[in-house]
Amino acid sequence: MASTPTRKRVLSGMRSTGKLHLGNYVGALQNWVRMQDEYQCFFEVADWHALTTDYADTSRVKENSFEVVLDWLAAGLDPNKSVIFIQSHVPAHAELHLLLSMITPLGWLERVPTYKEQRDNIKDKDLGTYGFLGYPVLQAADILIYKANFVPVGEDQVAHVELTREIARRFNGFYGSAKSVFPEPAALLTPAAKLPGTDGRKMSKSYGNTILLTDPEPVVRQKLKTMVTDPARVRRSDPGNPDVCPVGDLHKIFSSKETIAKVNEGCRSASIGCIECKSWAADALVQLLSPMQERRKKFEENPQLAWDILEDGTRRASAAASETMDHVRAAMGMSLKLK
Ligand code: TRP
Ligand code: SF4
Repeated sequence: MASTPTRKRVLSGMRSTGKLHLGNYVGALQNWVRMQDEYQCFFEVADWHALTTDYADTSRVKENSFEVVLDWLAAGLDPNKSVIFIQSHVPAHAELHLLLSMITPLGWLERVPTYKEQRDNIKDKDLGTYGFLGYPVLQAADILIYKANFVPVGEDQVAHVELTREIARRFNGFYGSAKSVFPEPAALLTPAAKLPGTDGRKMSKSYGNTILLTDPEPVVRQKLKTMVTDPARVRRSDPGNPDVCPVGDLHKIFSSKETIAKVNEGCRSASIGCIECKSWAADALVQLLSPMQERRKKFEENPQLAWDILEDGTRRASAAASETMDHVRAAMGMSLKLK
C-alpha cells in the first residue's frame, strides 16, 4: 500500500511473552489490526523490555519473540500495511535510550506507579536494577524514535506514555530550536473489555487461566467445560445471571446478538443448562480462532516466510529510526558529519 505522508504514525509494542492469549487479542491486537488502514503503524516485539525483568535466563527470549510474531501475523497484522519488527534488531533504540537517560530525572522514574509496586511485589527476582528503573525511558525511546503521534495501549501503560510526553518536552526544550524534534505522542486508550479467564479472574498468563490463540478446538472446548459459572446456579433448575457469570462475559464479547439474547433468556429462566451455554461460547471462540490458526499454519510450515517479514520490518524500521537519529544528533550539535 502506498504510504501517504499525511497518515499519522502509530507505534505500539508487546513484550516477548511467548504464545498470546485471548486477553492479548481483545486488549490490544484486535484494535491494532483495525488501525492498520488508517495509520502508518509500527509494531514491535519488545524483547529488551522482557530482559528488564527476566534477565537471568535469556534462553527463551528469541523463541518467545518469534511466537508473538506468528500470533500477530495469524491475527491479521499485515506486513504490507504495517512495519513489524523485533526491538533488538533496531539497535538505534539503544542509542536514543542512552541520550534520553541523560535528561530524565530520577524522580520521574521513581514516581512511575508500576515501578515501586512491582519492585516490592515481585519477590522471585531482584528488580533493584538500573535497567528495570529505566524501563519507561526505553519505552519512550521506542515511541519517539518513530516520531509516533499515537500509542494504542491499555490502562496499565498510560503512565508510560505520559512520561514519554514529558521526556519529549524536556528534550525539545533543551535542544529544539525553531522546530521541535519530537512530537508529543498521545495514548489511545484501548477500551478494556472485561475478559475473564477460566477461573473467573482476569485472563493472565501468570494465573494459568488463559485460552491461547493457538489452542485447538478440543482444548478450547475442554477449557470452557471447566470454566467457572454464576456460583448461585448450583442446580440445573436454579435460574442464573449472565451478568455475574464469566461465561456470560465471554458471550458478550464474542457471541452474536441472537446468541446473547438466547443466553440471557435461557439462563434467567433456567431453560438452558450451563453445559449447553458453554458449548455456544466455545462455538464463538472456535469461529474466531480457526481462521487465525489457518493463517498461522502457513508460517509454522515455512518459518522463513516470517523471518523474511521481520527482515523487511527491520529494514523499514531502521530507515525511519536512522532518520530521527540524524535529527536528534543534529539538534544536540553532535552530528556524525564533520561539518
Ligand atoms: N511496556 C509495554 C508492555 O509491557 C510494551 C512496550 C514496549 C510498548 N515498548 C512499547 C508499548 C512502546 C507501547 C509503546 O506491555
Ligand atoms: Fe453462566 Fe451460561 Fe450457566 Fe448462565 S447458563 S450461569 S450464563 S454458563
